[in-house]
Amino acid sequence: MKPERYDDLLAQLDPTRLPRHIAVIMDGNGRWATRRHLPRSAGHKAGAEALRRATELCRELHIGCLSVYAFSTENWSRPAEEVGFLMRLLVEYLHSERSLLRQQQIRLGFLGRRDGLPAEVLRALDETLAETASYQEMQLNLAVNYGGRDELRRAVQALVAEAAAGRLTAAEVDEAKISAQLDTAGLPDPDLLIRPSGELRISNFLLWQGAYSELYFCDKLWPDFGKRDLLAAILEYQKRDRRFGAVKR
Ligand code: IPE
Ligand code: IPE
Ligand code: MG
Repeated sequence: MKPERYDDLLAQLDPTRLPRHIAVIMDGNGRWATRRHLPRSAGHKAGAEALRRATELCRELHIGCLSVYAFSTENWSRPAEEVGFLMRLLVEYLHSERSLLRQQQIRLGFLGRRDGLPAEVLRALDETLAETASYQEMQLNLAVNYGGRDELRRAVQALVAEAAAGRLTAAEVDEAKISAQLDTAGLPDPDLLIRPSGELRISNFLLWQGAYSELYFCDKLWPDFGKRDLLAAILEYQKRDRRFGAVKR
């Protein structure tokens, strides 16, 4: 079967039922490189290009928010050389993407724990966050040193501190107060969560926010994931019947 053309896929989209927030676990960079007899770092570079394509398409489709998992709290256990490369790549990415973010009026967001990130990464992040803060067309969230459990731990810590200061009682802790302490405060929950590379797991990404996300898994490795693949994922999402626990009559 011939793969469907980009324009044909685009024509099938229902513009009234687009996800408001798409989350992506950008996985498979290492395997992509190994299959080509290249160092894993080449896969991460190619992965950054795939991220640019995904960002461009979300912007074209007027999808309000794209959150991408770039480095998890568990990824520190990788060899120091790979971790160092990923941190340098992140700084490079932040510098090189500024013109696209400016041109397309895309605001950058950060999901994760600042503690433990190298100073150069924090500087590049903070500069880009400040520079893009007023942009309104779309939000691109980079999850770096992010773990869903760590995010919940930080939220609990903040609420306990509020309680200790006498500004909050146990009975007042509701779901909205927890959501407001998360890195995604103020954003809609992801409607669609995409994981390429064939792994069927969440790997600690957006545990709270993903409670009712539609999950989309595919075998393509992230560096090979193109605009057509993202369109296919959105089309599949549009076929899903989202019930949120209710009975549809
Ligand atoms: C995803 O690709 C990027 C990061 C986790 C930083 P991987 O590096 O996990 O690639 P595989 O899963 O080994 O192929
Ligand atoms: C998840 O991928 C994290 C990112 C893509 C940043 P991993 O490759 O780290 O996840 P596991 O080890 O397969 O669960
Ligand atoms: Mg992986």
